[in-house]
Amino acid sequence: MTRPYVVAVGRSPVGQFGMAGRDLFSLAIEEAFAGLPSPRELVDALYVGSQSESYEHQIVYGSQFAEWAGLRHVPAQRVEGCAASGGLAFHEAVSDVAAGTHDAVLACGVETMSTGGTPVATDSLVAASERTLGQRSGITAPGVYAMLAQRYLHEHDRSEADLARIAVRNHRNARGNPIAQFDREFSLEDVLESPPVADPIKLLECAPVSDGSAAAIVASESVAERLVGLENAIAVDGFAAVSDALAIAEHDLTRLKGVERAVESVYEQAGIGAGDVDLAEVHDAFSINEALSAEAAGFTPAGRGHEVALDPDERSAECTDVRVNTSGGLKARGHPVGATGIYQIVEAYERIVGADRPDGPDRRIADADRALCLNEGGTADSITTAHLLSGVDA
Ligand code: COA
Repeated sequence: MTRPYVVAVGRSPVGQFGMAGRDLFSLAIEEAFAGLPSPRELVDALYVGSQSESYEHQIVYGSQFAEWAGLRHVPAQRVEGCAASGGLAFHEAVSDVAAGTHDAVLACGVETMSTGGTPVATDSLVAASERTLGQRSGITAPGVYAMLAQRYLHEHDRSEADLARIAVRNHRNARGNPIAQFDREFSLEDVLESPPVADPIKLLECAPVSDGSAAAIVASESVAERLVGLENAIAVDGFAAVSDALAIAEHDLTRLKGVERAVESVYEQAGIGAGDVDLAEVHDAFSINEALSAEAAGFTPAGRGHEVALDPDERSAECTDVRVNTSGGLKARGHPVGATGIYQIVEAYERIVGADRPDGPDRRIADADRALCLNEGGTADSITTAHLLSGVDA
């Protein structure tokens, strides 16, 4: 099996733009291809993560994006797993390269959620609830996560402030990210006093309705070496995709068992433990989910996942010192659903390798060598992708 590497990444800004998905994708692909010799001759397959055709009444994104990237006549397809669509697209690309099916594959994602405003986005996301048991009840995404949050607060005797600190930290982190949807910090009081959406979740604990597109080129070791040099690439040392129950009635409300399995698999593949992870981009569509993901990844014991919002020296002794959601997360970087999993890979690359961007300074973190990207879709972790990425110094 070949070791796959991410050799280049690109991204559009995240926000509400009224632009076509293909135009956002053009921004991402221009950045990803910049400076590479003959990328169009190199890439021999393409996967696009996209949650729904309801936003711009578009399917067959594979062919459209292949054409827009100048990659005609390659295998190209859309991949869907709600908010994990981008992670699944990346997983497909990595699997192809690892298996030797292709030498270089483009993984990308897109969503233009703002076209119909919050009502269309809400309706579209309801499709990620199980039809007969969930959708009939009228439950929405914030409603699902409110149930998880209520149960967590009850079982672990935590306060709403414990969860709200996650949103405060993610808004703070987004301030250093030039593509983030929000460039504004909020205090704990701001979050706690923001309008209720689904009790106990408040407006400032929800991911927004977002547009955006991101792209990552995955290549074999020999192509990575030739193209950019391994010091300018990140290795994919572990990859996993794990499904779990879609119906909320079948779901454990305070444990993400699908995430646990996915994480266990990538740690085993990479030969590391939770304490070796420097950075993690996790799924904080609502604050509760970041807390549960942190527990499932082994960063904290059960009932203490909210502590990843604190500085490492303020956390309990059993917690690791991982930095979580340095991008600002889904909450504040933004959550263009089908593209989110690729934005997580972009963040890992920019933090470990660094990138010369016209829109801001290099964001490399000198002592960060290993990143875990956790992308989840459906009822929390109905589908999870986990990727463990390492720089040359890891
Ligand atoms: N975080 C911070 N501010 C937000 C926000 C959010 N999530 N959503 C909206 N705002 C702000 C807007 O910027 C706007 O500010 P302004 O008045 O200063 O311009 C204001 O709140 C009103 O925006 P609007 O778009 O009218 O809000 P809304 O009430 O229609 O939608 C939510 C708010 C929370 C319902 C919507 O963002 C939402 O549905 N989020 C969840 C998306 C989701 O489920 N994603 C998938 C999860 S897997």
